[in-house]
Amino acid sequence: MTNYVGILTAGGDSPGLNAAIRGVAKAGIGTYGMQIIGFRDGFRGLMQDRTVRLTSEELSGILTVGGTILGTSRDKPHKMPIGGQTMDMTDVMVDTYHKHNLDALVCLGGGGTQKNAYRLMQKGLNIITLPKTIDNDVAMTDATFGFDTALGIATAAIDRLHSTAHSHHRIIVVEVMGHNAGWLTLGAGIAGGADVILIPELPYDINVVAEAIRRRQRRGSNFSIVAVSEGAHSAEDAAALAKASAKVAKAKGGKARKKARAKLAKLEASLKGHTMRVSQQLEKLTGLESRVTILGHLQRGGTPSAADRLLATTLGSACAKLIDQGVFGVMVAARGDGAEPVPLEQVVGRRKLVPTDHPWVETARSIGVCLGNR
Ligand code: F6P
Repeated sequence: MTNYVGILTAGGDSPGLNAAIRGVAKAGIGTYGMQIIGFRDGFRGLMQDRTVRLTSEELSGILTVGGTILGTSRDKPHKMPIGGQTMDMTDVMVDTYHKHNLDALVCLGGGGTQKNAYRLMQKGLNIITLPKTIDNDVAMTDATFGFDTALGIATAAIDRLHSTAHSHHRIIVVEVMGHNAGWLTLGAGIAGGADVILIPELPYDINVVAEAIRRRQRRGSNFSIVAVSEGAHSAEDAAALAKASAKVAKAKGGKARKKARAKLAKLEASLKGHTMRVSQQLEKLTGLESRVTILGHLQRGGTPSAADRLLATTLGSACAKLIDQGVFGVMVAARGDGAEPVPLEQVVGRRKLVPTDHPWVETARSIGVCLGNR
């Protein structure tokens, strides 16, 4: 029988984390008689053995609360920044797990967390994970909790931007989160009625975007809403990035790889702030005034939507059941209205991007939204 279960939240926070913690713990304690301890601030808390016992008192009232009651961090077990150095602390974390006589460790997080949890699994720990991220880009799951809430927030923001863009006859370029995947921008762009949607999966040509805005002008619409993923790139920048990444992959030897990585990092840094550049370019090309709104962390804050609470609770309670059955080394994926365990090997190192023939892409095109390419 599984008695002692640890739980941690890692990576960027997202709405629904507390609902998931509650789902695991309520089912774990109430149905399966487990004892649950939380580790604070992700893998860092596991390393430092900073814990909190999760009892019904701690779980009470957290369903609707944003963020994570456990705290989080982006620390990786094998690359912990400690006193100005980067150290592999995986074994220390393994020791903490054994010190508490844990039968299982539940890790809630996005793609990076799945990878870090997998590393601990390779050290012999009983690991089980849940997929969370507002980016919706974790592989092998229908959905991640956090996405629906962020989608609602970004859509509401685009709704509000319409009236001011219309009143001032302006272009408003709104930056939506999503470093690698365009789910949030595409979803909110369609739901909010954006005129242009730029996502990482579809590199854009700024002249195509400008022409779409001019076409609207010719039809009498002197304003436009341009929804841009933070990770969107022009076709030239995307090609340069692909070339630099290929050089990193091909580099032989530590020195060559370090040099190639430094070049890639420099290029990536030079592309930060591209949303401002899009706005400036569009002003020049269309003659319309343009303003930028960056939604940023607003999209990750606040109370989770009903859909995210439902998903997180479903996955959390399914997780407790799988632990009771002794199923480990898996991510509890969302499948239809339920949950399904997927081996972590099939999840790590992969990312769920928007397929270029996805129904949302087709939908956007067919209602006349410009996606930045011809
Ligand atoms: O992973 C979720 C996410 O919100 C991304 O959309 C965004 O690129 C990133 O996290 C921001 O990270 P941080 O909160 O560390 O700045």
